[in-house]
Amino acid sequence: MSELTKDQLLDLVNSKQVAPGNARVRQLTQRIVSDLFKAIDELDVTPDEFWAAAGWLERLGKSGQIGLITAGLGFDRLLDIRSDEADEKAGRAAGTPRAIEGPLFVAGAPLSQGEVRVDEGEPKGEVLVMEGQVLDVDGRPVAGALLDVWHANEQGGYSHFFPGMKPFELRRRIATDAQGRYRFRSYLPPGYAIPPDSPTSELFAALGRHGNRPAHIHFLLAAPGIRTLTTQINIPGDTYIDDDFAFATRDGLIVTLEPNTAAAGYESLGVTTPFTRVRFNFVVQKALNESETAPEARMGRIAA
Ligand code: BEZ
Ligand code: FE
Repeated sequence: MSELTKDQLLDLVNSKQVAPGNARVRQLTQRIVSDLFKAIDELDVTPDEFWAAAGWLERLGKSGQIGLITAGLGFDRLLDIRSDEADEKAGRAAGTPRAIEGPLFVAGAPLSQGEVRVDEGEPKGEVLVMEGQVLDVDGRPVAGALLDVWHANEQGGYSHFFPGMKPFELRRRIATDAQGRYRFRSYLPPGYAIPPDSPTSELFAALGRHGNRPAHIHFLLAAPGIRTLTTQINIPGDTYIDDDFAFATRDGLIVTLEPNTAAAGYESLGVTTPFTRVRFNFVVQKALNESETAPEARMGRIAA
């Protein structure tokens, strides 16, 4: 059979098998290939268009920016919406909302007990202290919870990804104290923008879209018996707060800034003059099984 119709070709592609393989991978590949065959046909995709797309995917893979595209095309938020729906159905929609991790988490940040300076003594913006408690859904403090904090520098760059930054700059882990309290000092970060002259910016230019995220701070919160929470807070007043290229802004995560907070009581964080405070309690759910307590972020979870 050397002459094939489009349907015969698709059937062949989807049915070839000399070993069991992985049933789920086969199912997903068959569906995606079928949908692409259909799109190519219905949209009359030319060979030049097809190979331009393939070349772009090749450059995207080499650039390490796949996680920017998944966020920018809504997939990261889609997974959160689906998780929220599943929680709703299971009657366990409670606590601090989840928000996308993004592709810029790095495991292994230095760990401190109770409080830390995330900015390592180099304020490059308005001084911020964020503080609060980690509580379970019944209002009980969660002692010894590990809170990963990471945010962008004054140029919107993240250490390990942005040239010139020190390892783990603006990345710290804090263990909550006996009352579940945490606090950290840093500075109010600006928003993030996708790198110019990159496969990501190329697609966004072609789509006529911007690639900006509003100012935010990321958190990954894990504790024994607690369902790991990945979330972010948004800093109010940002132009892009309702126009995030990654669609990640959520009600309940836009914090209130308290400017001109008196420095008394914050000396251990090196604060001597009035500063901007954010008070925020993280409310976490009890885990239903071991895997929900896994402290790893998304890539760590799939590797585990
Ligand atoms: C970020 O959180 O900074 C981010 C999220 C998605 C894509 C790129 C960056
Ligand atoms: Fe970010």
